[in-house]
Amino acid sequence: MNTQPSPQRLAGQNAMVTGANSGIGAGIARELAAAGANVVVNYVVQPETAESICEDINKLGAGKAIAIQADVSSESDVQALFAEAIKQFGTLDIVCSNAGLQRDAHLVDMTLDQWNKVIGVNLTGAFLVAREAAREFTRRGMRDVSCALGKIIFTSSVHQEIPWGGHCNYATTKGGIMQLMESIAQELAPHRIRVNSVCPGAIETAINRNAWDTASAATALKKLIPYGRIGVPADIAKVAAWLASDESDYICGASIYVDGGMTLYPGFATGG
Ligand code: BGC
Repeated sequence: MNTQPSPQRLAGQNAMVTGANSGIGAGIARELAAAGANVVVNYVVQPETAESICEDINKLGAGKAIAIQADVSSESDVQALFAEAIKQFGTLDIVCSNAGLQRDAHLVDMTLDQWNKVIGVNLTGAFLVAREAAREFTRRGMRDVSCALGKIIFTSSVHQEIPWGGHCNYATTKGGIMQLMESIAQELAPHRIRVNSVCPGAIETAINRNAWDTASAATALKKLIPYGRIGVPADIAKVAAWLASDESDYICGASIYVDGGMTLYPGFATGG
């Protein structure tokens, strides 16, 4: 039996990835395109990085990529993003709500701006993107490219489960994404829309650079990871591409932790 996934398992499908000009989002965009999907690379700043990711993807000759600017915390930007994507590609089959940021502070020092910024991008952005995705999938109806009417995939975090002192705004958004994801998964499954989350642990990207870019930081971080290595964007992207494909057609409302065991509470291996 051939257990290799087809390299073109997303051929003919159109995808959008928000926050796709860096880190995990860029990895997801590349992986979806390698699997044959056309991809909207959404970004909010640094158009040149989005354009260079599109160039890389377009050189590979699988799915096509286009860059579209939008701030996911703005309703009008998100509506314009979807309108442009649909104008360029005709419709969307896969929407990855990935854009996210951190503005870290201890509670007593956290400003309302830090709180609102993180809630706005990570949580309100996820709502706005998922709402437009569901509107487009139901407007357009079934296509013969997938068993599902559409797929929504959130980039959540281990911090939808693990409390995170010094980062309460961020952890709150990820806990919120979990309830958003499960509530709309329940609501949309009868329409054959699958909604799921991938929950990264510590992945080497710019968002957490100070947690891994010195030897002592990396050693401390690895103590939280039973599997003993820090993740890379491809670890997440492969799972997102699988969640987008018909190979995961019976998965609705799942949170898939991709974290080298971080959610196993490794401190309890020797304590407790
Ligand atoms: C955060 C990272 C952190 C990781 C594990 C992620 O969601 O964005 O900064 O390293 O969780 O704690």
